[in-house]
Amino acid sequence: MREALLGGRVQLRPWQRDDVEALLEHADDAAVSRGLSTRFPYPYTRADAEAFLAGEIIDLSEPVFALLIDGRACGGIGVQPGRNERRYSAALGYWLGQRYWGQGIMTAVVAAYAPWVMAELGLARLSAQVMASNPASARVLLKNGFSEEGTERQSVFKDGLLHDMRCFARLRTLPPSA
Ligand SMILES: CC(C)(COP(=O)(O)OP(=O)(O)OC[C@H]1O[C@@H](n2cnc3c(N)ncnc32)[C@H](O)[C@@H]1OP(=O)(O)O)[C@@H](O)C(=O)NCCC(=O)NCCS
Repeated sequence: MREALLGGRVQLRPWQRDDVEALLEHADDAAVSRGLSTRFPYPYTRADAEAFLAGEIIDLSEPVFALLIDGRACGGIGVQPGRNERRYSAALGYWLGQRYWGQGIMTAVVAAYAPWVMAELGLARLSAQVMASNPASARVLLKNGFSEEGTERQSVFKDGLLHDMRCFARLRTLPPSA
């Protein structure tokens, strides 16, 4: 997928080793890491960026993309597909550099990526978990056809606190051949 969105200003493409400087510029931010898993730490060091770009943190062979604005990586989106009896499901994750928040960018990116990745991987279910303290991410999902299914209470311990996780999913009817 090499999608150009928002009039061509925003693009998605696979991560490249030379994205390290751009990644550091936007990822090393407590406000970004706050809503994410501890695989996305703060401080976010050069070693963290290099390990990520080498595919040591998450599997970059899956549809995991850098989000580019005006040609420079400043965020990411990807899925972690399920295996075996979970093979028709995948979990969605995304982030954007704080400088670009509140402009509708992630809403537009998820609008393009979610249907594409569900068709590409033959998924019946795309799920996402959002900390209760992250209403912006919940809005992105609700504006993109995800339904809220419930809350995993006190399921995540991060930054010294237990967090409730709000569970969202978007469904797709599988073709008869699946
Ligand atoms: C979550 C995140 C991706 C949102 O990206 P974004 O491009 O700023 O999102 P958008 O501008 O497309 O949409 C944000 C929506 O949230 C709303 N919003 C923002 N702050 C809010 C708040 N405190 N309470 C309620 N709604 C809020 C906005 O008004 C907007 O909704 P609207 O269009 O109905 O007005 C971005 O903040 C981010 O990367 N955060 C850090 C990483 C993260 O949390 N990732 C998600 C993990 S589940």
